[in-house]
Amino acid sequence: MSKTTKRYTVTAALPYANGPVHIGHLAGVYVPADIYVRYLRSRQREVAFVCGSDEHGVPITIRAQKEGVSPQQVVDKYHSIIRDSFRDFGISFDIYSRTSAPVHHQTASDFFTKLQKDGVFEVKESEQYYDEKAGQFLADRYIKGTCPNCGYTEAYGDQCESCGTSLSPSDLIDPRSMLSGAKPVLRNTTHWYLPLNQYEKWLREWILEGHKDWKSNVYGQCKSWIEQGLQPRAVTRDLDWGVPVPLPEAEGKVLYVWFDAPIGYISATKDWAEQTGKNWEPYWKDEETKLVHFIGKDNIVFHCIIFPAMLKAHGDFILPENVPANEFLNLEGNKISTSRNWAVWLHEYLAEFPEKQDVLRYALCANAPETKDNDFTWKDFQAKNNNELVAILGNFVNRALVLTHKYYEGKVPAAGEFFDIDEEVKEKLRKLPNQVAESIEQYKFREALNSMMELARAGNKYLADTEPWKLIKENPERVKTIMNLSLQLAANLSILAEPFLPFSMEKLRNMLQLEKLDWKEAGRTDILAAGHQLEAAQLLFEKIEDQVVENQVKKLEETKAANEAANTPVAPSKAEVVFDDFMKMDIRIGTILEAERVKKSKKLLKLKVDTGIDQRTILSGIAQYFEPEAIIGQQVSVLVNLAPRPIMGIESQGMILMAEDKDGSLAFMKPGKPVANGSGVS
Ligand code: MF3
Ligand code: ZN
Repeated sequence: MSKTTKRYTVTAALPYANGPVHIGHLAGVYVPADIYVRYLRSRQREVAFVCGSDEHGVPITIRAQKEGVSPQQVVDKYHSIIRDSFRDFGISFDIYSRTSAPVHHQTASDFFTKLQKDGVFEVKESEQYYDEKAGQFLADRYIKGTCPNCGYTEAYGDQCESCGTSLSPSDLIDPRSMLSGAKPVLRNTTHWYLPLNQYEKWLREWILEGHKDWKSNVYGQCKSWIEQGLQPRAVTRDLDWGVPVPLPEAEGKVLYVWFDAPIGYISATKDWAEQTGKNWEPYWKDEETKLVHFIGKDNIVFHCIIFPAMLKAHGDFILPENVPANEFLNLEGNKISTSRNWAVWLHEYLAEFPEKQDVLRYALCANAPETKDNDFTWKDFQAKNNNELVAILGNFVNRALVLTHKYYEGKVPAAGEFFDIDEEVKEKLRKLPNQVAESIEQYKFREALNSMMELARAGNKYLADTEPWKLIKENPERVKTIMNLSLQLAANLSILAEPFLPFSMEKLRNMLQLEKLDWKEAGRTDILAAGHQLEAAQLLFEKIEDQVVENQVKKLEETKAANEAANTPVAPSKAEVVFDDFMKMDIRIGTILEAERVKKSKKLLKLKVDTGIDQRTILSGIAQYFEPEAIIGQQVSVLVNLAPRPIMGIESQGMILMAEDKDGSLAFMKPGKPVANGSGVS
């Protein structure tokens, strides 16, 4: 495309407000988008960077129902958690809006009305499951039943989570409603369909011919969708949470979440414009605006096919210029999963690694799943920090500053004559800003990061080769040149690294006593004037010890063990007994009066228990789970007619009953309310 670009509208996928965000979201969407936008701003380009919470859809209503709260309460909670996480990680949205906002309801509603008036939709009747007890139609996710493929009894109407097969509700054996448990019945319902088939020819030309420049993973997915043939898609649902369909005959229906959510980008832009006194329209209507959507790969069809078809049908809006979707980030070899808690949550990361946002931003960018799925490991995180941020970038900046303070009381020395070795460094510095910029403009953020780090590497090498600390006595004039150039490199880093590491570069600017400079200043070797006073050096990054990352891995291993335990069925393990066998046992409720450790035993506690019948001594193998002082006064179940037996030289007169969890941990079998000692259990 040869049209000129006057401004940018950059969007980042609206996260569902039904859970917090994790490193996969950050790596795939928000870090790349933020790098891009920070770079554009540094180039003085006009840009609106918009995002917000996606607050509609069935998963949110299900979560609300499970937690016994309203959908609005669910989205309010997660909207603020997510908004804060983004803010804390320096994701520099111009606006973080939300789709439950009135401006969005209005915008989405108007969008639908325009299409409806223009006769774009097909209106069709179809049969759908209905819950007669609850009096409502059932979304696919609201129907459970037995999977026809693997026999799993908890399969959803759209997918079996056990074998992964995608289903439609009519495939389920013995379907049941999750609302009331009733057997759903089929009923007729009317919906509005976007006839994607009519846009097939246009999409073919626009994407397959016109956008060969899109990333190959994106282009490939589009091609395969288009070649499979496009079908009309329902854009309405029978649900009571969402944007109501603005037609009198559509009572009780809302817009499908994937119809309203992308319109959320437009609403967010309006929201921003309203708050800042700008005009939103050029950002969505001017042909000289470049619209770029940052998303994950599961969103490709919606952003490359369905939303563009909607925009095209509407007619007033521009189309995306690019959709640089990323693949997925895995965690320690496994797919990130919210339901299995296999994730690193952003708010938890920050609690455990305070002020280390840039370390995560760096590790995620260096490992971004740009062309294929990638794996995040804590070992690699540590290595990126210790071997790159600390050893290369931090080390270079620190040496430049510390030496300047040591030799010149923190004042930038004037450069003298330049030699070949200086010219080489200057040459590199002249080239790198363009190299970084080009990679960013092509959405190759890993490559851009590497080029940026080349500057720090060059700086380190320059100091190692010239060894100013050895020259300072015999040739102090030469050292002035070396230190001047080193400081100029550091100043350049504060420009080139800002999109990637905004927090650390702010620190660096403070040390250098430097204003934030535009990209066009990069490459200069006279940014810092001779005599300019620097602040004291402080470390930009610090080493992360083995123990710290090992703890994170351990935490994940515990999650895995808990998941496995939860998925292992419990089998009966003892032979059948008759009622009389059971009645032979005399089980009573007692209270622990005294407790102490048994010498030389790790497992045993010696207890004195009031059984209501008597006070007796019982030895119990619970010492690894309970502190003696903590269990005094605890009511417990006691098998009182167990034959006494000596254990480690002490006679034990009975047995305390305990529940043993899958991980071996123990819990007391205590009455649900305090009862008299001696109460029988049967
Ligand atoms: N909420 C969706 C997801 O997390 C993304 C919506 S993007 C938008 O997968 F285009 F709909 F806004
Ligand atoms: Zn199955």
